[in-house]
Amino acid sequence: MSFTQSVSTHSARQDFLEAPLDRAHAESLQRQLYQRLKEGILKGQLAAGSRLPGSRALAETLSVSRNTVTIAYEHLISEGYVRADRKGSTVAALMRPVQREAQAENNAPSRVALRLSRIRSSPARSDTSTALRPGVPSLSHFPLAVWRRMLDRAVREASPAELNYGDPFGQAELRAAIAAHVARTRGVHCEPSQVIVTEGAQEALMLCVRLLTNPGDTAWVEDPGYRGAKAAMHAGDLRIVPKRMDEEGLHVGAADWRSRTPRLIYTTPSHQYPTGAVMSVARRLALISDARKHGTWIIEDDYDSEFRHSGEPIGAMQGLVADAPVLYVGTFSKTMFASLRLGFLVMPPRLLVSAQDALREMLRGGHSHEQLAMAGFIESGQFARHLGRMRRLYRERQHALRGALTRHLRVPHIIEGGQGGLHLAVRLPRDFPDARIAEAARQYGMAPMPLSSFAMAPALEDNGLVLGYGNTATELLDPLVKRLSQLVLTAGG
Ligand SMILES: Cc1ncc(COP(=O)(O)O)c(C=O)c1O
Repeated sequence: MSFTQSVSTHSARQDFLEAPLDRAHAESLQRQLYQRLKEGILKGQLAAGSRLPGSRALAETLSVSRNTVTIAYEHLISEGYVRADRKGSTVAALMRPVQREAQAENNAPSRVALRLSRIRSSPARSDTSTALRPGVPSLSHFPLAVWRRMLDRAVREASPAELNYGDPFGQAELRAAIAAHVARTRGVHCEPSQVIVTEGAQEALMLCVRLLTNPGDTAWVEDPGYRGAKAAMHAGDLRIVPKRMDEEGLHVGAADWRSRTPRLIYTTPSHQYPTGAVMSVARRLALISDARKHGTWIIEDDYDSEFRHSGEPIGAMQGLVADAPVLYVGTFSKTMFASLRLGFLVMPPRLLVSAQDALREMLRGGHSHEQLAMAGFIESGQFARHLGRMRRLYRERQHALRGALTRHLRVPHIIEGGQGGLHLAVRLPRDFPDARIAEAARQYGMAPMPLSSFAMAPALEDNGLVLGYGNTATELLDPLVKRLSQLVLTAGG
């Protein structure tokens, strides 16, 4: 017989289609036919766009029931190999899989999007030594036994419904506990409905970029500044413009605002990361006012402000004036522990109205037991107790670190920061290259970060070390700094 479709002469295609099926085979006839057609499509024997024979005709040719052909066709249609329309069944246009030989030849790394190739990871990211590493809280002081009780209780008391997707914005109990906590400790003005629980500050930063920017928009960042924020902005294909700080924090003036208006400004006003500068109230008010005038959003990353050691406590920018154009980002990575991956974003009410539909589709909620345990930890007063203990410990450690630097560091240096947080920045003369010192320190299990690695456009004074004291035992600080000071001298020699 001849098919009325695209094949009119006897051809390889026809041979392929008409070859009898094996009735003795363990696979059913419909399965064999499905496999044959699928293979033919993948290998290009059945060309994209060509029509398959009608089910009645093919059934006759193969001496099988029409049902056998129909089921095989339906299977192919459901998997997208074949398209069905009123006239019959057509082979879909598929990308043919690359041949194995060709794959083996191509050992080049796969290309990622250009915007991601702009993100550079620091070598220290992958090593596990934590002595002097900035940003790590004291892991051995975390009250694990209390936390375990909170988790047990959360699992015991939660209903089976808690095993389903959570509220995309987070567990109501935790959102309420966060809203009350940041109001009390940071002067943040918000309703629980404005709080979105995130997977650490990093997810909050990524969300800000996704919600507020289009590729190519301009963002201002502090320079030197937090690498995670820049990674989030690169991933959003933003044009990142570095801005300098002085002793009053981020310094932008009328000339900056006259150039391309930023869509976003990222800042760590209460404890600049990594220099430790604190933005003055005058600067905060000016920034809010200018941002409002230009339709710019400010991301306030308040990552470690719970640990204030000296100076006047300054509340968050978010609560400084009513309806500030500020998205407030917080994290439990410093106050609890980083692997908990809990942070939060406080949205301005008018932004929440426009963004909530998109957010509800983009987020999935989850980690409900951890979120409920965290809410219990805050509400029971355990969180405040832990913070109080840690504040005393970090004050003591910072004091020990300063003492050790004074005793051992024999090159001119300036210690910066220290009003709060878990790290100090030590600026060094540029003939003592910071990257070389940090590299040498890794051989001794220390992980200070080179100050220059935080800068997009490093200035001469951006040579130095960022030293974390959060997770380094007080009694180790002196011998470690002694060793580090020797490495500084060697690097300069
Ligand atoms: C400036 C800054 N923001 C945020 C974070 C915390 O990020 P996450 O909550 O994603 O762990 C850090 C941690 O190092 C940080 O240094």
